[in-house]
Amino acid sequence: MNSSMRILVIGSGGREHALCWKIAQSPLVDKIFCAPGNGGMAQVAECLDIKADDIASLLDFARREKIDLTVVGPEVVLSLGIVDEFSKYGLKIFGPSKTAALLEASKVFSKELMAKYNIPTAPFKVFDNPGQAKEYIKSRGAPCVVKADGLAAGKGVVVAKTIDEAQKAVSLMMEDKIFKDAGSRIIIEECLEGEEASVLVITDSRDVAVLASAQDHKRIFDNDSGPNTGGMGAYSPAPIVTPGLLNNVLDNIIYPAIQGLNKEGIDYRGVLYAGVMITKNGPKALEFNVRFGDPETQAILPRLKSDLVEVMLAASEGKLIKVKNLDWDNRACVCVVLASKGYPGDYERDKEIYGLDEVAQIKDIVVFHAGTKLRRVNDVGQRAELEFLTSGGRVLSVVGLGNTIKGAIDNVYQAVEKINFEGMHYRRDIGKKALIAVRRNS
Ligand code: AMP
Ligand code: GLY
Repeated sequence: MNSSMRILVIGSGGREHALCWKIAQSPLVDKIFCAPGNGGMAQVAECLDIKADDIASLLDFARREKIDLTVVGPEVVLSLGIVDEFSKYGLKIFGPSKTAALLEASKVFSKELMAKYNIPTAPFKVFDNPGQAKEYIKSRGAPCVVKADGLAAGKGVVVAKTIDEAQKAVSLMMEDKIFKDAGSRIIIEECLEGEEASVLVITDSRDVAVLASAQDHKRIFDNDSGPNTGGMGAYSPAPIVTPGLLNNVLDNIIYPAIQGLNKEGIDYRGVLYAGVMITKNGPKALEFNVRFGDPETQAILPRLKSDLVEVMLAASEGKLIKVKNLDWDNRACVCVVLASKGYPGDYERDKEIYGLDEVAQIKDIVVFHAGTKLRRVNDVGQRAELEFLTSGGRVLSVVGLGNTIKGAIDNVYQAVEKINFEGMHYRRDIGKKALIAVRRNS
């Protein structure tokens, strides 16, 4: 196999930094580019001034620079059809086609697929008329869940406790159009109770390589309170995903989805991520994502011993069977996200980040950058020094390994305490739920 591969990673978050970090460890790889990347990614890859959704420029670059494999982080560019465009020119790319990406880009598509192929999920109804949606809510009662059909940057789901709350969500989505066309159609579904987990696999539409289980923490504050965010932390493995439960999710959710898509004439290649609710009647699919999770990836990849590049390449070529049994580090990994003042609302930027050099010396700690940029200071030719500034809502993903979840939690938080920037905030209870599940399992 080619031992001087040139890889292009698309995206600029903590997830993409973790991907670059893991890809850089592959003996197959010679050079990594990222578009557009961030301050941290600039340390392992060459950052390009190309936006993550500018397919024409990405394609131009990949053809000109003879990129051997492109790895796509975010869902938006997948749903715009980047895989179809690259494939037309014979360029290898890891991710699903535009049609296959509908599994995330359209909740109606996804739920209808689940219903057709008997994948356990909450019962639902689809509406394209706000009056009818509100009538239905009144007749069925609360609680219920209101979901915008299209992509809404993780904000398109309202779990409503009252009829009034659910009807207001309908008004915001369908009349006020807060998500533009993404809210023209909505789903109203039953509210499920239980604990959530994420199950991610890599697939070539026939075989699957199962990634280590993980759980993220979506709310901004401790004890899962406050508004939803892109994710404030994660841990892997998720003790709630026992081997029996994993097999259940694979047999009843993951394989039926891949095979169902096959029957619809859709070849699904890339990461398939099932968000599941573990109810007292077993696991039910909440949603599918068509890409690596953020911040789950930051907690999963440091535990992966196999060569990720080999696996992604095999999946994109339809030859996953050769490498599907992945090798994992048994240790636990915990990721804590450090956020800017104001996040998840409007947030501050351009604050200097302190403590990164010190943390880089700590054993079994890795810091993945999300919203950072590099600045040259004392710029006198070769002697310029570099410093990192904040540039996003989620700034850093600090990741720690440990022999146990408890060990990983202790390790990561002692590193977090050494990092500082003005207005920095983070959750102090990442992994706590895993400790409870471990106690329950034992
Ligand atoms: P989704 O984007 O569909 O995963 O929804 C985002 C979040 O909303 C999930 O992680 C759950 O916390 C919650 N959620 C979605 N659907 C339901 C449901 N049917 N019942 C309860 N919570 C839900
Ligand atoms: N961690 C949730 C997501 O990536 O969608």
